[in-house]
Amino acid sequence: MTEKPTVAILGGGNIGLAIATGLTRHGKLDPKSITVTRRNTAAIDGMREEGYHVTTSNREALDSSTTVLLCVQPSQAIDVLASLKDAFDHDRHRIISVVTGVSCDALSTAAGGAGVVRAMPNTAVAVGESMTCIASRQHDPAAVQAATALFSRVGTTLVIPEELMTQATALCACGIAFFLRAVRAASQGGIEIGFHAEEALAMAAQTARGAASLLLTDGRHPEGEIDRVTTPMGCTISGLNQMEHEGFSSAMIKGIVTSARKAGKLGGASDN
Ligand SMILES: NC(=O)c1ccc[n+]([C@@H]2O[C@H](COP(=O)([O-])OP(=O)(O)OC[C@H]3O[C@@H](n4cnc5c(N)ncnc54)[C@H](OP(=O)(O)O)[C@@H]3O)[C@@H](O)[C@H]2O)c1
Repeated sequence: MTEKPTVAILGGGNIGLAIATGLTRHGKLDPKSITVTRRNTAAIDGMREEGYHVTTSNREALDSSTTVLLCVQPSQAIDVLASLKDAFDHDRHRIISVVTGVSCDALSTAAGGAGVVRAMPNTAVAVGESMTCIASRQHDPAAVQAATALFSRVGTTLVIPEELMTQATALCACGIAFFLRAVRAASQGGIEIGFHAEEALAMAAQTARGAASLLLTDGRHPEGEIDRVTTPMGCTISGLNQMEHEGFSSAMIKGIVTSARKAGKLGGASDN
C-alpha cells in the first residue's frame, strides 16, 4: 500500500461521512489525518470526539491535506472548487470528485486548471466493501493510481472511461439501493412463510452475501450457479420462474436503465 494520505473531505454528508468512516475503520487511516467540512458542522460535531478535524472552512481543510475529496451535491460542485482555485497546490493536492454528472474538464476549469479525477463509490465504502469506479479525462496515470490506492483501502476499484461514469452511478451507487430492496423483499417473503422479522432479514442478507461470494471468490457465472440449485420439477425453479413471470429480471434491468438516464441529467449534463 502507498504512503498514507492526509484527506480533506469537502462535504460531510451521506457519502462523505461513509468514506471517512470506511477509511478509518477499514482503510487503516487515523481520524486525525482526515478533515471533514460542511457549512453546518453542528450536524457532525460527534466526529470531533472520534478524532477527526471538523471545520466549516474548505481552505483550512486544504492546508493540512494531500488528497481532496469533493463530496457536495452536483449543483454545488463548480462553485465550491471555484472558490478554492487559488488555494490548490498543483504539486501537492490530488483532487478526487465523487460528484455525479460533472465532468473532469468542468471541475478542472473551476479548480483553476488543477487535475481532477472522478470516483464513483457506493455507501458500502463505510464497511470497506465499496465498488468504486474511477475515471480521468486528462488520463493522468499518477492521479488515477492515487485515487485507486485510496479507494482500494475500502473496497474494489475499476478504472473506466469517463463516458461511462453516469452508467457506473446507476449500476453501483444506485445499485446498493436495488440490492437492499431485493434483500428486504426476500425478508418479507420469509416473514410470510413463518420467520420473525429479524431472523428473516438476517437469513436473507447472509444468503445474498453467499450468492455474491460465489461469483466473486471463484469467478463463477450466475446462471451456472442457478443451474446447480434448480432440480427438475423442484421448488427452486418453480419459485424462480414465478418471479420471472412477474418481471423480476426485467424490472431490475429497466430500473438500472432508468437510473442511468436520470443520472445523465444531473449536474447540468456535463458528464462526458
Ligand atoms: N449518497 C451516495 O450514495 C453517493 C454515492 C456516490 C456519489 N455520490 C455523490 O456524492 C455527492 C454528495 O452526495 P450525498 O448523498 O452525500 O449528499 P449530501 O448528504 O447532501 O451531502 C452533501 C454535503 O455537502 C455539504 N456542503 C454543501 N455545500 C458545502 C460547501 N460549500 N462546503 C462544504 N460542504 C458543503 C452539505 O452540508 P451543509 O449543507 O451543512 O454545508 C452536505 O453535508 C453528490 O454529488 C452525489 O452525486 C453520492
